[in-house]
Amino acid sequence: MCGITGYIGYRQATPVLLEALKKLEYRGYDSAGIAVLHEDALLVRKMKGPLQVLEARLATETIAGSLGIGHTRWATHGEPSDINSHPHTDVSGRIAIVHNGIIENYAKIKAWLQARGGVFKSDTDTEVIAHLINYYYQQYQKDIPGTRDILLHAVQHALTRLAGSYALGVIACDFPDRLIAARKDSPLIVGLGEGEHFIASDVPALLAYTREVYFLEEREVAVLYRDHVDLFTEQGEKIIRAPSHVDWDLASAEKGGYAHFMLKEIHDQAKAFTDTLRPRLTLEAQGWDINFDEIKLDAGWAEAPRIVITACGTAWHAAMVGKYAFERFARIPVEVDIASEYRYRNPVFNPQDIFIVISQSGETADTLAAMRLAKKGGARILAITNAVGSTLSREADLVLYTWAGPEIAVASTKAFTTQLLCLYLLALKLGLLRGCLSDASPYLQALSEVADKVARILNQKELIQRFASRQFNKDKVFFIGRQFDYAVSLECALKLKEISYTHSEAFAAGELKHGPIALVDTNTLVVALATQRELFDKIVSNIREVTSRGAASLVITWEGESAFDAVADEVFTIPQIEDSLSPLLSIIPAQLFAYYCAVQRGNDPDKPRNLAKSVTVE
Ligand code: M6R
Repeated sequence: MCGITGYIGYRQATPVLLEALKKLEYRGYDSAGIAVLHEDALLVRKMKGPLQVLEARLATETIAGSLGIGHTRWATHGEPSDINSHPHTDVSGRIAIVHNGIIENYAKIKAWLQARGGVFKSDTDTEVIAHLINYYYQQYQKDIPGTRDILLHAVQHALTRLAGSYALGVIACDFPDRLIAARKDSPLIVGLGEGEHFIASDVPALLAYTREVYFLEEREVAVLYRDHVDLFTEQGEKIIRAPSHVDWDLASAEKGGYAHFMLKEIHDQAKAFTDTLRPRLTLEAQGWDINFDEIKLDAGWAEAPRIVITACGTAWHAAMVGKYAFERFARIPVEVDIASEYRYRNPVFNPQDIFIVISQSGETADTLAAMRLAKKGGARILAITNAVGSTLSREADLVLYTWAGPEIAVASTKAFTTQLLCLYLLALKLGLLRGCLSDASPYLQALSEVADKVARILNQKELIQRFASRQFNKDKVFFIGRQFDYAVSLECALKLKEISYTHSEAFAAGELKHGPIALVDTNTLVVALATQRELFDKIVSNIREVTSRGAASLVITWEGESAFDAVADEVFTIPQIEDSLSPLLSIIPAQLFAYYCAVQRGNDPDKPRNLAKSVTVE
C-alpha cells in the first residue's frame, strides 16, 4: 500500500527518486509524485495515473536539487487525483512529506488544526501530518529560536499525536542538509551510501546504490544527512546499531527479458525452489535428512498438541496445503485461519501449540496483528517469510526464510511454492520427531527432483497459452479438487480472479452438489485438479456432472494418466510425484493460465486494478 522513497546526497535527486519509484510501483500505481528542494523552495510535482505520467511531465523540465522525496500511491483516503497524490505540504509549502499507512485519527486532528486556521487542499489523511509538523515547528521557532533540531522535535511531537500506521519521509526548506524518516507499522529502510543516503519502503529500490541498510524498527526516527545517519528512539534517545547487509542482486529485481514480472517469477520457481531446499537438505549415509539448524526444533515440537497457522491471501492457501501435510506426515491436529479473522475472534490459546505465521512480505498488517495477539497469549511464533529484516522476521521467535528472491508482481507465485516447500520440510521433520514417519528420505528425494519437474512444466507453457486463448472470455471459472487438490484450487482461483478479473472460485469437489453446481452453465469453465489417485473416480463423476450441464472442462493430472481422457474436454499433465507433494507442481499450470488469461484480456498482470502488493493497512 503505497511506496515511499527519499534521497539526500550529491546526485540530482529527481532521477534517483524516479528510478526508486519504478521499483516500488508494485506497491501502488494510481498516482505518483516527488518533491525536490531547489534553492530555497520545495518543487512538488504529482500526477494521477501510473508513474509514466509523472515521468513524462518531468521530462519537460529540469528540477535541480540533491534532496527529495517520492511516492507511489494506492489510494485509501480520497480518490486518485493530482491533489490527493503525495507529497503533501503544510500551508506555507515549506515542509513536504510522503506517507505510507493510514492515520486513523486524522479527522479529529484535521478539525483541531482547522480550528487553529489550518486550510486543507486534499481529502487525504496524510495532509494532516504536514500541517501538524508545521504547527509544532512554528511553536518551537517561537520558543527556542536558533535551535538546529526544531524540525526533528516538531516531527517527533507530531508523531505522538498520530494513531494508525506510518512510514514517513519529511523534508523542509529551512533544513537543506537533512531528510527525516520515521515508521510505525509500515516498513521503511534506510540505505547507506558514501556521501549520500536513501530511504525506501522496500529493498529493491535501493539495490542500484547500496546493500548496506538499516531496517527501521517500530517507532524509530532516522535523520539522514549527506555524511551520516542518526537513529533515535521515539523518546529521542540516540541508537547505535550496525547496519544490515542485503544479498539480493539488482538483476533479481528486474524483468530479465520477460514481458512481465509475473511471468519471470513463474519461471524463477525452479531456482527459488532449489535455493530454498538446498541449505536444508543433507545427505547422510542412510539417505537425505533435513537440516533445520536455523530454527532448532526442541522437544516442545514433538509434544505440541496442535499447530495453528495464520496468514492472508496466497500465504493462507499455502497454510491450507500445510494443514494436509502436517496431518499426513506428523499426525498432529492443525487449525488454519485467515489472519484478519483470527485477530478479532477471541481465539483459544494453548501456549504448548506450535504457532506458524506465513507472509511473503513479512509486513501484512493483519498477519502481524494475529502474530502479536498470539504472542501476547504466550505462543512461540515460527514465521515463514521471504523478507529478511521484515517486521515479521524481527518479531517472531523463529524464522524460516523462503529464499525466493524479490517478488515484485502483485500476484504471488514463487513465494507460494517456496512457502509450500518450507511447510513440507517442517511437516516431514515433525513426522520424524513425533515418530509418525520412520524415514523421510523418499520424500526428500522427491523434493530434490521438483525443480527439474517445474522446468518441464514450464517447457510446455504454450499448451496452456493456447488453452487460455480459447477460454479467457468465460464468465465463470471454477476450480475443484479434493484434499491437497482442494487447497491448491483456492490458490488457482485467487490467481485467476486477481489478474484476469474473471469470476473464479474454488470448491471442494464434494461440495458441488451442495449448492455451487447451480452456478454451472454453458459459459462456465471447470478446472479439476486430479492428483489424489484414490479419489480419481469421484473426480470423474464431478466432471460428468458439470459437463452435462454445459460447462467446458480441463483436468490437471499426472503424466500417463488416462482416467479423464474420455470425460474432460482437455487434459494437461504434470510430471509424476508422490500424491501428497502434488501442490508443488499442480499450481504451475494454473499460474500460467491466470497469466495468459490476463494478457488475453488486455490487463497488466503485474498491476491488477484495485490491488497492491503489500497490504500494510487493514
Ligand atoms: O506478503 P503476504 O504474503 O503477507 O501477502 C498476503 C496477501 O496479501 C497476498 O498473498 C495476496 O493475496 C497476493 N496478491 C496473492 O497473489
